[in-house]
Amino acid sequence: MKGIILAGGAGSRLFPLTLVASKQLQPVYDKPMVYYALTTLIENGVREFCLISTPRDLPRFRQLLGTGASWGLSIDYREQARPAGIAQAFLIAESFIGGDPVTLILGDNIFYGADSFKRAFAEFQGGASIFGYRVTDPDRYGVVEFDETGRAVSIEEKPKAPRSNYAVPGLYLYDNQVVETTRNLRPSARGELEITDVNIAYMRRGQLRVHKLSRGFAWLDAGTSSSLHEASAYVQTIEKRQGIKIGCPEEAAFRRGFVGREDLEKLAGRMPNCEYRDYLLRVVAEAGR
Ligand code: G1P
Repeated sequence: MKGIILAGGAGSRLFPLTLVASKQLQPVYDKPMVYYALTTLIENGVREFCLISTPRDLPRFRQLLGTGASWGLSIDYREQARPAGIAQAFLIAESFIGGDPVTLILGDNIFYGADSFKRAFAEFQGGASIFGYRVTDPDRYGVVEFDETGRAVSIEEKPKAPRSNYAVPGLYLYDNQVVETTRNLRPSARGELEITDVNIAYMRRGQLRVHKLSRGFAWLDAGTSSSLHEASAYVQTIEKRQGIKIGCPEEAAFRRGFVGREDLEKLAGRMPNCEYRDYLLRVVAEAGR
Protein backbone atom coordinates (compact mmCIF):
# COMPACT_ATOMS: atom_id res chain seq x y z
CA MET A 1 0.00 0.00 0.00
CA LYS A 2 1.30 3.45 -0.91
CA GLY A 3 1.16 6.39 1.49
CA ILE A 4 0.30 10.04 1.07
CA ILE A 5 1.18 12.56 3.75
CA LEU A 6 -0.77 15.77 3.35
CA ALA A 7 1.10 18.65 4.89
CA GLY A 8 -0.48 21.66 3.21
CA GLY A 9 -2.63 24.50 4.42
CA ALA A 10 -1.85 27.99 5.55
CA GLY A 11 -1.65 27.08 9.24
CA SER A 12 -3.43 30.33 9.97
CA ARG A 13 -4.53 29.18 13.41
CA LEU A 14 -0.87 28.97 14.44
CA PHE A 15 0.05 32.43 13.21
CA PRO A 16 2.67 33.91 13.70
CA LEU A 17 4.55 30.59 14.11
CA THR A 18 3.62 29.65 10.57
CA LEU A 19 5.12 32.79 9.04
CA VAL A 20 8.46 31.02 8.86
CA ALA A 21 7.66 27.31 8.81
CA SER A 22 4.51 25.37 8.02
CA LYS A 23 2.37 23.83 10.73
CA GLN A 24 3.63 20.30 10.10
CA LEU A 25 7.23 21.43 10.63
CA GLN A 26 6.57 22.88 14.07
CA PRO A 27 8.02 20.99 17.01
CA VAL A 28 5.86 18.57 18.93
CA TYR A 29 8.04 18.22 21.99
CA ASP A 30 11.32 16.89 20.55
CA LYS A 31 10.71 16.43 16.84
CA PRO A 32 8.94 18.00 13.87
CA MET A 33 5.22 17.30 13.70
CA VAL A 34 5.40 15.44 10.38
CA TYR A 35 7.62 12.75 11.97
CA TYR A 36 4.61 11.42 13.86
CA ALA A 37 2.45 10.87 10.77
CA LEU A 38 5.37 9.39 8.88
CA THR A 39 6.11 7.01 11.75
CA THR A 40 2.49 5.87 11.98
CA LEU A 41 2.55 4.79 8.34
CA ILE A 42 6.00 3.17 8.58
CA GLU A 43 4.78 1.18 11.59
CA ASN A 44 2.03 -0.15 9.38
CA GLY A 45 4.38 -1.26 6.65
CA VAL A 46 4.21 1.66 4.21
CA ARG A 47 7.49 2.29 2.36
CA GLU A 48 6.54 4.37 -0.65
CA PHE A 49 5.47 7.90 0.18
CA CYS A 50 4.25 11.02 -1.53
CA LEU A 51 4.39 14.16 0.56
CA ILE A 52 2.15 17.00 -0.55
CA SER A 53 2.64 20.55 0.62
CA THR A 54 2.51 24.14 -0.53
CA PRO A 55 5.03 25.50 -3.08
CA ARG A 56 6.51 27.59 -0.27
CA ASP A 57 7.00 24.76 2.19
CA LEU A 58 7.82 21.80 -0.04
CA PRO A 59 11.57 22.59 -0.20
CA ARG A 60 11.72 22.51 3.61
CA PHE A 61 10.14 19.06 3.73
CA ARG A 62 12.61 17.87 1.12
CA GLN A 63 15.43 19.23 3.24
CA LEU A 64 14.06 17.47 6.31
CA LEU A 65 13.18 14.07 4.86
CA GLY A 66 15.21 13.81 1.64
CA THR A 67 14.61 10.84 -0.65
CA GLY A 68 13.87 8.61 2.33
CA ALA A 69 16.58 6.20 1.13
CA SER A 70 18.55 6.25 4.38
CA TRP A 71 15.40 5.08 6.17
CA GLY A 72 14.69 2.38 3.58
CA LEU A 73 11.85 4.45 2.09
CA SER A 74 11.12 6.36 -1.06
CA ILE A 75 9.57 9.81 -0.74
CA ASP A 76 8.15 11.76 -3.69
CA TYR A 77 7.13 15.37 -3.33
CA ARG A 78 4.18 17.12 -4.95
CA GLU A 79 2.81 20.64 -4.70
CA GLN A 80 -0.68 21.64 -3.73
CA ALA A 81 -0.78 25.08 -5.30
CA ARG A 82 -3.75 26.24 -3.25
CA PRO A 83 -5.76 24.59 -0.51
CA ALA A 84 -8.62 22.96 -2.41
CA GLY A 85 -9.44 20.20 0.04
CA ILE A 86 -7.95 17.03 1.47
CA ALA A 87 -9.35 14.81 -1.29
CA GLN A 88 -7.48 16.84 -3.90
CA ALA A 89 -4.43 14.89 -2.71
CA PHE A 90 -5.60 11.88 -4.74
CA LEU A 91 -5.67 13.92 -7.94
CA ILE A 92 -2.29 15.52 -7.23
CA ALA A 93 -0.77 12.12 -6.47
CA GLU A 94 -2.55 10.21 -9.23
CA SER A 95 0.62 9.15 -11.07
CA PHE A 96 2.25 8.20 -7.76
CA ILE A 97 -0.73 6.02 -6.78
CA GLY A 98 -0.76 4.25 -10.16
CA GLY A 99 -2.80 1.08 -9.82
CA ASP A 100 -2.26 0.58 -6.09
CA PRO A 101 -4.31 1.02 -2.93
CA VAL A 102 -3.35 4.06 -0.91
CA THR A 103 -3.48 5.37 2.63
CA LEU A 104 -3.69 9.06 3.38
CA ILE A 105 -2.59 10.63 6.63
CA LEU A 106 -2.91 14.26 7.64
CA GLY A 107 0.44 15.67 8.71
CA ASP A 108 -1.02 17.32 11.80
CA ASN A 109 -2.63 14.20 13.27
CA ILE A 110 -0.72 12.44 16.03
CA PHE A 111 -1.59 8.90 17.00
CA TYR A 112 -0.30 6.83 19.82
CA GLY A 113 -1.34 3.39 21.01
CA ALA A 114 0.12 0.02 20.26
CA ASP A 115 -1.11 -1.76 17.18
CA SER A 116 -4.37 0.14 16.88
CA PHE A 117 -4.24 0.37 13.12
CA LYS A 118 -2.62 -3.00 12.61
CA ARG A 119 -5.86 -4.87 12.08
CA ALA A 120 -7.26 -2.32 9.64
CA PHE A 121 -4.12 -2.52 7.51
CA ALA A 122 -3.86 -6.31 7.76
CA GLU A 123 -7.50 -6.92 6.89
CA PHE A 124 -7.77 -4.29 4.18
CA GLN A 125 -8.85 -5.94 0.95
CA GLY A 126 -10.67 -3.19 -0.90
CA GLY A 127 -13.20 -0.43 -0.52
CA ALA A 128 -12.34 2.11 2.16
CA SER A 129 -11.42 1.78 5.83
CA ILE A 130 -11.63 4.71 8.22
CA PHE A 131 -11.73 5.09 11.99
CA GLY A 132 -14.05 6.45 14.65
CA TYR A 133 -12.73 8.01 17.85
CA ARG A 134 -14.82 9.29 20.72
CA VAL A 135 -14.32 12.99 21.45
CA THR A 136 -16.11 15.68 23.43
CA ASP A 137 -16.17 18.15 20.52
CA PRO A 138 -17.26 16.18 17.43
CA ASP A 139 -18.51 19.32 15.65
CA ARG A 140 -14.88 20.18 14.81
CA TYR A 141 -14.46 17.03 12.71
CA GLY A 142 -16.00 14.58 10.30
CA VAL A 143 -18.58 12.72 12.40
CA VAL A 144 -19.67 9.12 11.90
CA GLU A 145 -22.92 7.67 13.20
CA PHE A 146 -23.38 3.95 13.81
CA ASP A 147 -26.51 1.77 13.96
CA GLU A 148 -27.10 -0.84 16.71
CA THR A 149 -25.03 -3.40 14.82
CA GLY A 150 -22.04 -1.04 14.65
CA ARG A 151 -22.42 -0.27 10.95
CA ALA A 152 -21.78 3.30 9.82
CA VAL A 153 -25.00 4.93 8.67
CA SER A 154 -24.03 8.56 8.24
CA ILE A 155 -20.93 10.74 7.97
CA GLU A 156 -21.09 14.50 8.14
CA GLU A 157 -18.37 17.14 7.92
CA LYS A 158 -18.32 19.48 10.91
CA PRO A 159 -22.06 19.19 11.64
CA LYS A 160 -23.67 21.82 13.88
CA ALA A 161 -25.73 19.10 15.54
CA PRO A 162 -23.51 15.97 15.56
CA ARG A 163 -25.37 12.65 15.47
CA SER A 164 -22.69 10.95 17.54
CA ASN A 165 -19.53 11.62 19.53
CA TYR A 166 -17.40 9.71 17.05
CA ALA A 167 -14.99 11.88 15.09
CA VAL A 168 -13.16 10.56 12.03
CA PRO A 169 -9.39 10.96 12.48
CA GLY A 170 -7.10 11.91 9.64
CA LEU A 171 -6.01 8.45 8.55
CA TYR A 172 -7.81 6.75 5.68
CA LEU A 173 -7.28 3.60 3.60
CA TYR A 174 -8.63 3.29 0.06
CA ASP A 175 -8.54 0.94 -2.85
CA ASN A 176 -7.66 2.27 -6.27
CA GLN A 177 -11.19 3.54 -6.96
CA VAL A 178 -10.38 6.56 -4.82
CA VAL A 179 -8.96 8.55 -7.73
CA GLU A 180 -12.06 8.06 -9.87
CA THR A 181 -14.32 8.68 -6.87
CA THR A 182 -12.58 11.99 -6.19
CA ARG A 183 -12.76 13.01 -9.81
CA ASN A 184 -16.55 12.69 -9.63
CA LEU A 185 -16.86 14.93 -6.56
CA ARG A 186 -18.11 18.49 -6.58
CA PRO A 187 -16.45 21.04 -4.32
CA SER A 188 -18.34 21.69 -1.08
CA ALA A 189 -19.84 25.00 0.02
CA ARG A 190 -16.39 26.03 1.28
CA GLY A 191 -14.98 25.31 -2.19
CA GLU A 192 -13.07 22.16 -1.21
CA LEU A 193 -12.97 18.53 -2.31
CA GLU A 194 -13.97 17.01 1.01
CA ILE A 195 -12.52 13.75 2.29
CA THR A 196 -15.89 13.23 3.98
CA ASP A 197 -17.56 13.19 0.54
CA VAL A 198 -15.14 10.48 -0.59
CA ASN A 199 -16.10 8.43 2.47
CA ILE A 200 -19.81 9.01 1.84
CA ALA A 201 -19.38 7.77 -1.74
CA TYR A 202 -17.79 4.54 -0.46
CA MET A 203 -20.49 4.20 2.20
CA ARG A 204 -23.26 4.52 -0.41
CA ARG A 205 -21.62 1.77 -2.43
CA GLY A 206 -21.56 -0.43 0.69
CA GLN A 207 -17.75 -0.42 0.60
CA LEU A 208 -16.91 1.51 3.75
CA ARG A 209 -15.58 -0.07 6.90
CA VAL A 210 -15.27 1.98 10.08
CA HIS A 211 -13.03 0.68 12.86
CA LYS A 212 -13.76 2.09 16.31
CA LEU A 213 -10.57 3.04 18.12
CA SER A 214 -10.40 1.81 21.67
CA ARG A 215 -10.39 4.07 24.69
CA GLY A 216 -6.74 3.47 25.49
CA PHE A 217 -5.70 5.06 22.25
CA ALA A 218 -4.53 8.65 21.86
CA TRP A 219 -5.42 10.81 18.89
CA LEU A 220 -4.14 14.32 19.28
CA ASP A 221 -4.58 17.21 16.99
CA ALA A 222 -1.94 19.89 16.92
CA GLY A 223 -3.59 22.58 14.85
CA THR A 224 -3.95 25.35 17.43
CA SER A 225 -1.43 26.83 19.85
CA SER A 226 -3.07 25.17 22.80
CA SER A 227 -3.52 21.73 21.19
CA LEU A 228 0.08 21.94 19.97
CA HIS A 229 1.21 22.58 23.50
CA GLU A 230 -0.96 19.75 24.84
CA ALA A 231 0.40 17.34 22.25
CA SER A 232 3.96 18.26 23.27
CA ALA A 233 3.14 17.75 26.92
CA TYR A 234 1.58 14.36 26.19
CA VAL A 235 4.59 13.18 24.19
CA GLN A 236 6.96 14.40 26.87
CA THR A 237 5.01 12.64 29.63
CA ILE A 238 5.02 9.25 27.88
CA GLU A 239 8.62 9.52 26.67
CA LYS A 240 9.91 10.47 30.10
CA ARG A 241 7.96 7.82 31.90
CA GLN A 242 8.78 4.96 29.55
CA GLY A 243 12.14 5.92 28.10
CA ILE A 244 10.84 5.40 24.58
CA LYS A 245 10.19 7.81 21.75
CA ILE A 246 6.88 8.38 20.01
CA GLY A 247 7.11 9.33 16.34
CA CYS A 248 10.68 8.27 15.64
CA PRO A 249 10.81 7.23 11.96
CA GLU A 250 14.33 5.79 12.16
CA GLU A 251 13.31 3.43 14.93
CA ALA A 252 10.06 2.45 13.18
CA ALA A 253 11.96 1.74 9.94
CA PHE A 254 14.39 -0.42 11.88
CA ARG A 255 11.66 -2.35 13.69
CA ARG A 256 9.87 -3.00 10.37
CA GLY A 257 13.12 -4.29 8.89
CA PHE A 258 13.38 -1.45 6.34
CA VAL A 259 16.89 -0.70 7.62
CA GLY A 260 19.29 -3.04 9.37
CA ARG A 261 21.00 -2.62 12.70
CA GLU A 262 24.23 -1.42 11.14
CA ASP A 263 22.40 1.11 8.97
CA LEU A 264 20.69 2.50 12.03
CA GLU A 265 23.98 2.72 13.85
CA LYS A 266 25.52 4.62 10.93
CA LEU A 267 22.52 6.92 10.73
CA ALA A 268 22.80 7.75 14.41
CA GLY A 269 26.56 8.18 14.09
CA ARG A 270 26.04 10.96 11.55
CA MET A 271 23.83 12.93 13.92
CA PRO A 272 25.19 15.64 16.18
CA ASN A 273 25.68 14.74 19.78
CA CYS A 274 22.12 14.96 21.11
CA GLU A 275 19.48 13.09 22.99
CA TYR A 276 17.88 11.81 19.77
CA ARG A 277 21.16 10.22 18.75
CA ASP A 278 21.69 8.68 22.18
CA TYR A 279 18.22 7.20 21.97
CA LEU A 280 18.85 5.58 18.59
CA LEU A 281 22.17 4.19 19.76
CA ARG A 282 20.35 2.68 22.71
CA VAL A 283 17.85 1.06 20.34
CA VAL A 284 20.81 -0.36 18.40
CA ALA A 285 22.49 -1.63 21.57
CA GLU A 286 19.30 -3.20 22.94
CA ALA A 287 18.64 -4.95 19.62
CA GLY A 288 22.09 -6.45 19.76
CA ARG A 289 21.54 -8.15 23.09
C1 G1P B 1 -10.21 17.38 8.42
C2 G1P B 1 -11.38 16.59 7.85
C3 G1P B 1 -12.24 16.02 8.97
C4 G1P B 1 -11.38 15.20 9.91
C5 G1P B 1 -10.19 16.04 10.41
C6 G1P B 1 -9.22 15.19 11.22
O1 G1P B 1 -10.68 18.54 9.05
O2 G1P B 1 -12.12 17.43 6.98
O3 G1P B 1 -13.25 15.20 8.43
O4 G1P B 1 -12.17 14.75 11.00
O5 G1P B 1 -9.46 16.60 9.32
O6 G1P B 1 -8.15 15.95 11.71
P1 G1P B 1 -9.83 19.92 8.96
O7 G1P B 1 -8.44 19.60 9.40
O8 G1P B 1 -9.89 20.34 7.53
O9 G1P B 1 -10.54 20.85 9.89
